[in-house]
Amino acid sequence: MKKISLNGNWKSRPDYNDEGIYQKWYLPKNFDKHDSKLLEIEIPISFNTLKDFEVYEGIFWHFYQFSLEKSIFNENFDYRIKFKGSNYNTKVWLNGTYLGEHNGGFTPFNVNLKNSHSLNKNFLAVRTDNIRKKNRLPAISFDWFNWGGIYRDVEFLILNKNRIKDLVIKTPLESRICSKIEISFTVVGILSLKWQILDSEQSTPLFEGSISKITGKGGFNLTFKNPKLWSPDHPSLYILRIFESTKKELLYETTFGIREIEIEGKHIFLNKRKLLMKGVSLHEELMPYGRTIPYKERENDIESMKSLGFNALRTAHYSHDEDLLNIADKKGMLILEEVPVYWICNFKSNETFKTAARMIRELIKRDINHPSVIWWSVGNEIPIERPEVAKFMRRLMEWTRMHDDTRIVTYVSMKLFTDLTRRYADVATINFYFGWYVGSVKLINFMLDVMRTPAFNKPWIYTEFGAGAKYGFHADWDKKLKFSEEKQLHVLDYSIRTFNAKDYLAGWFIWIYRDFRSFLRQNKFQQGFNRKGIVSEKNEQKLICKRIPQILNVKRKLLNIKFLGILFWILFYPFAYIITYVLLDSIIFEGSKTIEKMKSIERKRISKESKEN
Ligand code: GCU
Repeated sequence: MKKISLNGNWKSRPDYNDEGIYQKWYLPKNFDKHDSKLLEIEIPISFNTLKDFEVYEGIFWHFYQFSLEKSIFNENFDYRIKFKGSNYNTKVWLNGTYLGEHNGGFTPFNVNLKNSHSLNKNFLAVRTDNIRKKNRLPAISFDWFNWGGIYRDVEFLILNKNRIKDLVIKTPLESRICSKIEISFTVVGILSLKWQILDSEQSTPLFEGSISKITGKGGFNLTFKNPKLWSPDHPSLYILRIFESTKKELLYETTFGIREIEIEGKHIFLNKRKLLMKGVSLHEELMPYGRTIPYKERENDIESMKSLGFNALRTAHYSHDEDLLNIADKKGMLILEEVPVYWICNFKSNETFKTAARMIRELIKRDINHPSVIWWSVGNEIPIERPEVAKFMRRLMEWTRMHDDTRIVTYVSMKLFTDLTRRYADVATINFYFGWYVGSVKLINFMLDVMRTPAFNKPWIYTEFGAGAKYGFHADWDKKLKFSEEKQLHVLDYSIRTFNAKDYLAGWFIWIYRDFRSFLRQNKFQQGFNRKGIVSEKNEQKLICKRIPQILNVKRKLLNIKFLGILFWILFYPFAYIITYVLLDSIIFEGSKTIEKMKSIERKRISKESKEN
């Protein structure tokens, strides 16, 4: 496969009244590159980083003219254009021919060129819209910034008619000193192959083999004695290369790691050893880049997290650029991935389910061979006590297991009492902000024992806890003023030492590594940002960062009140169910009115800021 980058100088324009399709803006004859309405942009870009588009949610057109070398025109090739990430709905035309569309902001997709490309002048027109709609994922209300546009790389792919696709590497362990590796793939056309496996640090192949005249499903297995196992502490990688045996042309190359994730009772095992995850979540956002974050900055993030002692990262609430996974594979960081089935979605609609299922398939297809990725979450903080939601999530977990049976499959819940669907997840999860949204951190020990009751014999992960802090705002320790760094320190410190003492907790994740933009956050400390980061949006470390390395493995002395917890759950469950079903869900999740109101506050704040600057 050959790739030609289509990144670079593009032209673009907003389409406030949705006229572009009607007026055929996608036809080369209707394009005038000197048109004053056109903006110069550098693709990939999150278009909300452009002046006057800071809060824009709408239709945006992108235009690119390019020529191709004569040599690529050959009947032995197929052609695609690949978008690694474009939010939300993306429609593509080449030289006026409609090539297709994609829904979803966080997974890659290809469009087939159908021979619409020509030698010299190619005119690519791409219409994106990041409009909030109830049938989308996420839908109307979500607590992160809705960066729009073509924000990840775009490539022109030249594929051999005879090629390999859907290659999957499974590395089950017989023991820590023996792995039975299974490599499967599909051959499009017919091929004779030579393959080799190398240690990423050495040039001489460790294993070699060949397969002649193969078409359709194929693969090979091998027994690897004394492999260097991949783990966050020892991120050992191997390389698989597959050549076309006659012409020695390299058809496929990937790195992989030999590691295995297993669950037994209330523990998770990595390479046959008990795993405890100590982690953070992260939104794919860094100012001034929006989502189009340079590779070096992503590397800095992972290195800073490792230096604080974290061994796991939850890419909330969607998949980040694959660069982050390549870095995590190399540097050693466990990755928990998720699809944006978030808060209120149209769970009764089969179209919504199909969209979620396609997002899962695209995600697994992209990331299945990354050793760092150990978990697929099919949703976050959904009203799981509702039968249609419970059904939606169970179906989605089953669908995920059909596409990958080697990783943890779950969803992230915020329910203390009313989540009976946790029993069907591989790992039970909880997001709950004791000491911030509700009550005191002192409730954690007891409430964990309560919520554990319906999903007793499985590992639990505390997927979100935290407190907001405005960088630089300090207050007396005793006062524990909200948004002070001292308050955040208190909540996180107490929570972490409590979690470490719970034998059925296989891990915890601080919400969140870095402050991030959100329309929903507009008070005087927030100023358009969710301030629960342990570092500010400028990567300034808050007080808690000094403390984390000291308490990472510290356990508080806890009273064993497990029996009381079970009793409390049994007594209180019926009331909790009614209150939650009838009342809580409708007040917890903001509606579109709130979003519009918050957007106008944000618009005013940004225009005031730009006047002051
Ligand atoms: C939730 C949610 C996050 C949100 C966080 C918060 O738990 O999953 O997306 O940002 O709470 O309230 O800060």
